[in-house]
Amino acid sequence: MKCILFGAGGREAIIASELAKKYELYAVISHKNPTIIEAVEKTGGKYYIEKKPNEEFIKKVIKENDIELCVVNSDNLLQQGVIDVAKSCGILTFGPTSEGAKIEWNKAYALSVMEKLAPEMLNPTKIIENEEELKKVIDEYDDVEFVVKPNGLTGGKGVKVGGEHFKSKEEGYNYALGCLKQDKCVIIQDKMVGHEFTIMGFTNGKEVVLAPCTYDHPYRFEGDKGPGTGGMGVVTFKDGLMPFLTKEDMKKCKEVMEKVVREINKEKIIFNGVIYGGFFKTQKGIFFIEFNSRLGDPEALNVLSLMKTPFAEVALDIAKGNELNEENCNFEEKASYVVYVVSKSYAIDSKAEPIEFKIDENILNNNEIKVYCSSMEQIDEDKYKSVGNSRLFALTKTGDDLEEIKEFVNGLLKKYVERDMLDYRLDLGEFRR
Ligand code: GLY
Repeated sequence: MKCILFGAGGREAIIASELAKKYELYAVISHKNPTIIEAVEKTGGKYYIEKKPNEEFIKKVIKENDIELCVVNSDNLLQQGVIDVAKSCGILTFGPTSEGAKIEWNKAYALSVMEKLAPEMLNPTKIIENEEELKKVIDEYDDVEFVVKPNGLTGGKGVKVGGEHFKSKEEGYNYALGCLKQDKCVIIQDKMVGHEFTIMGFTNGKEVVLAPCTYDHPYRFEGDKGPGTGGMGVVTFKDGLMPFLTKEDMKKCKEVMEKVVREINKEKIIFNGVIYGGFFKTQKGIFFIEFNSRLGDPEALNVLSLMKTPFAEVALDIAKGNELNEENCNFEEKASYVVYVVSKSYAIDSKAEPIEFKIDENILNNNEIKVYCSSMEQIDEDKYKSVGNSRLFALTKTGDDLEEIKEFVNGLLKKYVERDMLDYRLDLGEFRR
């Protein structure tokens, strides 16, 4: 079967590696991601470098290569409607249409769906559409006990939490005002105390099968300090839960995620693939944060590494609308540890010049771990350069004990990745909030 993947991040790197185990792989990528290129070439497929694939281009590539299955996991490409174009070519698709992905790219819409289906999971929230209202809402808060959320896509970097990302009401207000001007809407919520976690569910548009619960580390520096990022690393535990999360909690999240998928698909199936639920556990229970319409990054690296059923088979079952259950979509009972290596200036200086770097052979050729590339290209046999100023590559390991695999991966990082130009966090899996 011929399959095409759109997108070039770390999550697409593992998706490409998995799809290449079964299919002839084609890829449309914005830069020469070495993992994706290797996966494509291994299958005899072809890759295209295209930053903004338009309708004509997508149709041409699908038709001239007789593509049968299209997989999209990038938030921007989903919003732009790549799946809609693939569907119009009459091929199988994994991922929602643009309208289906609205649950991610329009946070106010997601809140309205939750208001209807599970209002008890909503934390006090204001959806604001004018400056006067924004001023009034923020004035009512004591100090900085609020969170500002942009309405649209921000690559996981837009949410700002009072006391952490902004230190005064004025600073919070100014950020919110910028969001309001950009999207004509901004969301203000009460700040919560507890643990944030994410659960991703594979879905054929009706049933949802949950992957092990994931815990992301969005803050740039150890100790959960510094600016927010797309995620510096993610851990999962052997039992698929979190130390603060019970099976009952997971069941509750699954129920609401299934209700949401069915609601979106009420008229016809426009959403399949992955629903990503961001939740918060507090002393009062579980609260909703956001839905994404795709695998998270780095979360995809944990979850796909843990899949017992090959992802390529699950993706095809989903695209065909076949029944999905824990028999034909299941996971290893193992822990996983994923850490991103980034440039020193990542999330600090968006205008920083690209860097050139090497990856030590003891990391690249280590059979105990897997390395997946993200925003980087190969420029020489053993030399790479960063693309933009995003995350560079991830080290991934699964095993029976989280502490053991963490120690192993961190040991490699400390020994073989100098923290002069590159950086990473060594404290993943420590729960501070
Ligand atoms: N790691 C957060 C995200 O993918 O949205």
